[in-house]
Amino acid sequence: MTQADDQTSESIGQTISQKTVVITGGNAGIGKESAVAIASMGARVMFTSRDAQRGADALSEVKERSGSTKVELLSLDLASLASIRSFATTVMSATDRIDVLLNNAGLLQTQRSMTVDGFETTFGVNHLGHFLLTDLLGGILTKTAKEFGESRVVAVASNAHKFARNGVNFDDLERRKNYSGMGVYGESKLANILFANELAKRLSGSGVTANSLHPGYVASRFGRDGDTGRLDWAVALGAQLFAISPKKGAATSVFVATDQSTATASGGYYEKSRLKKPTSQALDTDAQKRLWEVSTELVNR
Ligand SMILES: NC(=O)c1ccc[n+]([C@@H]2O[C@H](COP(=O)([O-])OP(=O)(O)OC[C@H]3O[C@@H](n4cnc5c(N)ncnc54)[C@H](OP(=O)(O)O)[C@@H]3O)[C@@H](O)[C@H]2O)c1
Repeated sequence: MTQADDQTSESIGQTISQKTVVITGGNAGIGKESAVAIASMGARVMFTSRDAQRGADALSEVKERSGSTKVELLSLDLASLASIRSFATTVMSATDRIDVLLNNAGLLQTQRSMTVDGFETTFGVNHLGHFLLTDLLGGILTKTAKEFGESRVVAVASNAHKFARNGVNFDDLERRKNYSGMGVYGESKLANILFANELAKRLSGSGVTANSLHPGYVASRFGRDGDTGRLDWAVALGAQLFAISPKKGAATSVFVATDQSTATASGGYYEKSRLKKPTSQALDTDAQKRLWEVSTELVNR
């Protein structure tokens, strides 16, 4: 082993208990189970909730189940650029390292609505919100990678990206025409993969990796708050019959976020903790670049 190899393995070998992991949407479902698992390993976990009470309840639960006191709750609404900016400022004043940014939060809505900044909500929250957040935390992620050997951005995408057969509809990002909850959700999840892949390219050589994943079909609260309207009963029945538990659903997130074998892997899409090929639309390099440019313009306006 050369001296350089030795240094790399030493820095990569930073124990998980020295690391800080930020999880969006950690008050429920897959995000909460990811928080429990990662806090149990000893890492400092900062997770978000947009609702104070749901957040406080989850904070007690995550602390109790993980046996860790290194768990913190922060407020974040990804449907508001102001909230994202304020959250990023708070995080950066609370820690000087972020080893993992786990972009987990997400939603699906059958009824079209708009965020306070005028974006269609599903695309705004699932993609644009995380795009801005990752950009704002880019400096600290890069600094962490430089000092400690690596840092990771992990996007919880979905096999629902397969619904977006024609790619992202750049001509109607506000979804004024032919709104379909599942269609828009699929495009937002395709956007998660396109963004992770573009980020992986742009950060190549920096020590910051970017990957995306499908957690499985998970019996979380996802789509169960009336967001799926008349389809609620079908979602509930499907979950009862086929879905895995949120704990099992968190396994791939935890693997990509913490496993040594994925420390330097970047630009991959994972399912069941294994690399999987996403659709050709997700691997479209022109779409990756275009999405980056359009998103930059949208969040900075
Ligand atoms: N469940 C599945 O079968 C499945 C399959 C594939 C992919 N996924 C993906 O897995 C991720 C987690 O979903 P889940 O199944 O755990 O669903 P969940 O139980 O509904 O949890 C979603 C989380 O996202 C948060 N969230 C929603 N809107 C937000 C906003 N505007 N700002 C900040 N946080 C917001 C929720 O907070 P509130 O409590 O405030 O709503 C909650 O913490 C999502 O990205 C989803 O697309 C899920």
